[in-house]
Amino acid sequence: MTDILLRGRLLTFHQEPKDADDSEAYSYVEDGAILVRDGRIVASGEYRDSAARAHDARIVDHRPHLLMAGFIDAHIHFPQVQIVASWGSQLLDWLNGYTFPAEADYANAQHATAMAGQFCDLLTDHGTTTAVAFCSVHKASAEALFSAAADRNMRIIAGKTMMDRNAPGSVLDTPQSSYDDSKELIATWHGKGRASYAITPRFAITSTPQQMAMAGALAGEHPDCYVQTHLSENHAEITFTAELYPEARDYLDVYETHGLMGQKTLLGHAIHLKEREIAAIAEAGAHPVFCPTSNLFLGSGLFDDAGLRAHGISNGIATDIGAGTSYSMLQTLNEGYKILQLRHQKLHALRAFHWITRGNAEVLGMSDKIGTLDAGTEADIVVLNARATPAMALRMGRAETLSEELFVLQMMGDDRAIVQTYVAGHPQKGIVR
Ligand code: GUN
Ligand code: ZN
Repeated sequence: MTDILLRGRLLTFHQEPKDADDSEAYSYVEDGAILVRDGRIVASGEYRDSAARAHDARIVDHRPHLLMAGFIDAHIHFPQVQIVASWGSQLLDWLNGYTFPAEADYANAQHATAMAGQFCDLLTDHGTTTAVAFCSVHKASAEALFSAAADRNMRIIAGKTMMDRNAPGSVLDTPQSSYDDSKELIATWHGKGRASYAITPRFAITSTPQQMAMAGALAGEHPDCYVQTHLSENHAEITFTAELYPEARDYLDVYETHGLMGQKTLLGHAIHLKEREIAAIAEAGAHPVFCPTSNLFLGSGLFDDAGLRAHGISNGIATDIGAGTSYSMLQTLNEGYKILQLRHQKLHALRAFHWITRGNAEVLGMSDKIGTLDAGTEADIVVLNARATPAMALRMGRAETLSEELFVLQMMGDDRAIVQTYVAGHPQKGIVR
């Protein structure tokens, strides 16, 4: 296969920037190039150095645009693509009124397959090259998503949702069937190509203790799989969980006592936490995932990023489509910035762009594979234009520094700012499938 040389301005992170002046944390190259071979980055740095190593490479000149690692979305629901922007309620009513009926359709493999392709295309249109996704309860929905991602050679972490109560029969499984289906999906997909499996008990409300125990058994048998669930998003959810699990010390204890806590555990939302829960998350090395557009849309609450970080916890950040309102990790940063403002916390642009690339990769334990432009990593790359709209171009007329440019992208950017998205070295935008 021919090598590809992508020319443009390069930005990649080596560590989380401590503040807006922390130039040690990243490399920025004004006339840079990335040499891609067989889906991997062979070299990245000054154009003249990368070009010297490129023989017969096809050159794609993206100047004056900015090349970064592809974005990573740490929490998203694939079968909710058709219920984004569903009006008017908080979490539990929203689940019952919109979510469960929409997810019921994914029992149909044809529907799931049609939606999975469009879902992957939407991700890459928005610059996202890796997603951690909930599927529906139906095994077919996970098959459809893993297949669509494999067709694109796209890195994906996903799992069939486990849920056996407090929802319509059309979206329920049983403890045994959820175990068997998950086990088969792990055997088929985990570690195949760029896929990883996430054991996916939806949340405490929709799993009996018997099913939670099955999820914990799976986690024990497959310690290299992820675990994804939801935690303390909404007050009514927390109250109902306490009724359903009267023995539990608190919400997190449900997951702890069923063997679901570890460094590969991703806890969506984690807004209303007790001190004991925070200490236990830190102790386990698990990861809360901040979902700004969703938390504002459902009126769930304001994530305490700094409070968790003070305990040594590293948080992910995500869209949470379909309670989230945008597929764009840029828009996610925009709303995240505003939530943290209300908390008197700051999200400066360098940390923001670190978060949606290398930061989320670290949370997933995958920064040796994705999230940077380092040689040897997978060639998932996004090309950004901070002048994508007239309003952005006007604002950029007064931007003088890289931080300012990034902040314009963070606050004003969306899919229009994504010029191209490369997945394992292959361009995705404008491709007719
Ligand atoms: N808690 C349990 N399921 C869901 C879901 O689908 N979306 C959100 N935002 N929270 C949940
Ligand atoms: Zn969610």
